Amino acid sequence: MSEGQLTTDAKPWADPNATPFLQIKNITKKFGAFVAVENVSLDIYKGEIFCLLGGSGCGKSTLLRMLAGFETPTSGQIIVDGQDQAGIPPYARPTNMMFQSYALFPHMTVEKNIAYGLKRDGLPKNEIATRVTEMLSLVQMDQFAARKPHQLSGGQRQRVALARALVKKPKLLMLDEPLGALDKKLREETQFELIKIQESLGVTFVVVTHDQEEAMTLSSRIGVMTAGEIIQTGTPHEIYEYPQSRFVADFIGSVNMFEGRVIEDGKDHVVISSKELGGDIYVPHGISGVEGQKMAVAVRPEKVRISRTDLGEMRNKVSGTIDEIAYMGNSSVFQVRLDSGKRVRVSQSNLTRDDDDALRWDDKVWVGWADDAGVVVAS
Ligand SMILES: Nc1ncnc2c1ncn2[C@@H]1O[C@H](COP(=O)(O)OP(=O)(O)OP(=O)(O)O)[C@@H](O)[C@H]1O
Ligand SMILES: [Mg+2]
Repeated sequence: MSEGQLTTDAKPWADPNATPFLQIKNITKKFGAFVAVENVSLDIYKGEIFCLLGGSGCGKSTLLRMLAGFETPTSGQIIVDGQDQAGIPPYARPTNMMFQSYALFPHMTVEKNIAYGLKRDGLPKNEIATRVTEMLSLVQMDQFAARKPHQLSGGQRQRVALARALVKKPKLLMLDEPLGALDKKLREETQFELIKIQESLGVTFVVVTHDQEEAMTLSSRIGVMTAGEIIQTGTPHEIYEYPQSRFVADFIGSVNMFEGRVIEDGKDHVVISSKELGGDIYVPHGISGVEGQKMAVAVRPEKVRISRTDLGEMRNKVSGTIDEIAYMGNSSVFQVRLDSGKRVRVSQSNLTRDDDDALRWDDKVWVGWADDAGVVVAS
């Protein structure tokens, strides 16, 4: 295993003695009176692929540009490998950046584009040649070495930009929407390529994306951004399973959200009465709320069970009618209109192709979920 690679069970962020490789301390960026990035603090560890995830205009690129030195923070501190980056120009930092608009030199061939940074650093010719060849094969662009950017597809240009960013072997690489121009299939392939590259070179990646599926696939951890702030940081699993706010729950995948008020605060559970659901929600352990307190419960579509018959012992269940069915190949997504009028999404994997017993449009059904399938989020 190469240096800097994280094993799947290594979690330096959970180790109080681990030293972060990149420390972001209370970074704020204002453009005039407009606050683009607000008081962001974050530690990123060696070997991570850290994804900044958020909607358009939330400040992702601005934060990344500050990390790479293309933008000066209004306040706050950025430390890489123990060294304060204030006043250090981009080219002198141990970082490199791949821009959202990948800015290849139009008059240079693919090969020259990739070699540019090494040439500027005055590396010997034969070393430049070796490294460029390595990179070309890594991003599978060997056959296109002599082409110019306008003779390439968007996805190919993106791969050249990636090679150009990697060739200098930066310790820390910032990638701004690195796969944005690729179609779905190539995007998925390239995601795995990126992970492989990351593992073989031991580079630490900070990747900006607005695509939550991409963030889930790529990252060791995700920072969810909105309006200039990071509102939750965690592993893909933590973010998906334990969103701390309604925003995060909604942003990461589709989720069913039921609002209600606490009617019973027991020792090991609470019961939330939800008008929206048309019933009570039983939530075990972990939370406590005073009676009357407003709460929301998030339940992922794949955690919801659906059946024509009563769901037996299941505590959290209501009845409704199938409103819509979408066949997605290996799964089907049902929309169930509850008696309360609210719609619930249910995702179920398709085990057999032609099922006589399959659920159909307008079927009366029960939907429900296990006690521990719902997550309470701030509403
Ligand atoms: N130089 C600038 N002057 C003024 N406002 C700016 C400047 N650069 C960015 N902004 C504003 O700061 C906010 C954050 O911009 P940023 O480019 O960081 O967004 P983003 O999260 O990368 O969005 P996208 O997903 O669309 O790329 C936006 O509202 C943008 O208009
Ligand atoms: Mg951007």
